[in-house]
Amino acid sequence: MAILVAMTQWLTLSRAAHILGISRVTLQKRIREGDLPSFDGMVDAEDLQRAWPQLDLDASGSFEKTRAIREDAFAKRLRERVLPSQEALAQRLFAQGQELAELQRTLTRYHRLVEDLRARLASLPRPLAAELGRILDEGLARAISVPAPQEDLRALDAMLRVMSAHVTVKPSGHEFFVEGSETLLKAALRAGLSPNYGCGNGNCGLCKARVVSGEARAVVPSDYHFSEAEKAQNHVLMCTCTAHSSDLVIEVLEAGLPEDIPEQRIVTKVRAVDVLGEDMMRLHLQTPRSNRLRFLAGQRVTLGLSAGVASSDDLHAELPVASCPCDDRNLIFHVRRSTSADSQVEAAGDFTACLFAGLIKPGAEVSAWGPWGRFVLQRESTRPLVFVAIDQGFAPINSLIEHAIAVDAAESITLYWAATQAGGQYLPNQCRAWAAALDEFSYRPLDLAGLEAALAADSTLAGSDVYLAGPAALLAPAEAALRATGLPAAQLHVEAV
Ligand code: FES
Repeated sequence: MAILVAMTQWLTLSRAAHILGISRVTLQKRIREGDLPSFDGMVDAEDLQRAWPQLDLDASGSFEKTRAIREDAFAKRLRERVLPSQEALAQRLFAQGQELAELQRTLTRYHRLVEDLRARLASLPRPLAAELGRILDEGLARAISVPAPQEDLRALDAMLRVMSAHVTVKPSGHEFFVEGSETLLKAALRAGLSPNYGCGNGNCGLCKARVVSGEARAVVPSDYHFSEAEKAQNHVLMCTCTAHSSDLVIEVLEAGLPEDIPEQRIVTKVRAVDVLGEDMMRLHLQTPRSNRLRFLAGQRVTLGLSAGVASSDDLHAELPVASCPCDDRNLIFHVRRSTSADSQVEAAGDFTACLFAGLIKPGAEVSAWGPWGRFVLQRESTRPLVFVAIDQGFAPINSLIEHAIAVDAAESITLYWAATQAGGQYLPNQCRAWAAALDEFSYRPLDLAGLEAALAADSTLAGSDVYLAGPAALLAPAEAALRATGLPAAQLHVEAV
């Protein structure tokens, strides 16, 4: 008689969210509300199934959808060869084979135990033996009736563990996934983390991490020399190593506050200059492969034109970075044409004048130094996020939103974008795309008068973290409207752009 025993399968929150195609924050919310038990940052697949009954294949299509997404991702990885090395695949399959073998040994032991019990029952008086036999059969029937979706959860998890390595960062507890043979640094940045790093190509040693458990292997050559003590403690370079085992735990220094990031000065190249509107341009810079700019989402940098682009070699502007640090080597800026009404724009007038005059062309060198400012996400907060942008104040807000989405920072995101001129929301499609793609994202384009009324009517603000950015002269009324809602001062973050 074949006997199956339902066994607990623990999943990390990230892995569970990854499998189900839901946000990690949504999972955390259900745990906080008491709907889903968790132990030490893990959840049981069975509890997950109970908390998400809609995952039932017949009741809704959500599980099918999740499976289709995963299968598509799997096929895409195969097509694009975004796969771990053959050696890593072999090791991960071997590890899974060992787990399966262990499981099989356990099942065999249970099987023998049940057979032994059944044999002993035969020696008992008949009515008692029949009753105990019935109890045993019913118990076994319950144990093997594992719901199909839960079995699917296990199958998906097994597949993901082979394809994508799961990395846990100590002491922060942050987690990320490594796809194919990408480096730990690239995967961590893509996930919105802020590990310490410098050159990005194995020379400076700033991205050192200590492997606590699992295995990391070099995929990029490097001449960096570790000390004997570092070798003994399993130090690796995040920019040259990938995860070899399915699960890797590393100890890393992460930047959490603006003061954790050193001032840097690098030379970038203009990749593109696009017109976003009558008075708005998008400047796309790219950092050198070997010298990226570390910054936190929402921070500013100073851009300077090198001699040759303009007659003066001291044309500079301090601008918020509109892209996310997770956007690899790309730095995006939204630049407004200078007007006499805005002193900050006026101070950068020569730089922006050069941009609008077409003097800053693709291929030109632009120096960038910084980062500056404290308009960054409060890392430990899980409150809903409300972003309020006025005109070009959307630039740092864009960076914060991309970052918040990358790190799954909040259970809901609301964006108010007020413009002083009709059509002043210069990237409307992008905002609509966020709202269409993310269940918990809402977007409200407004004029200034509409903004004050909308904020006054929003009863959720007092329980949210609110980020307000815009031209200095236009911030006061919005700030007053926000404070009037009872929003605590510590939850309001304001940036003049
Ligand atoms: S960032 Fe310089 S060695 Fe990794």
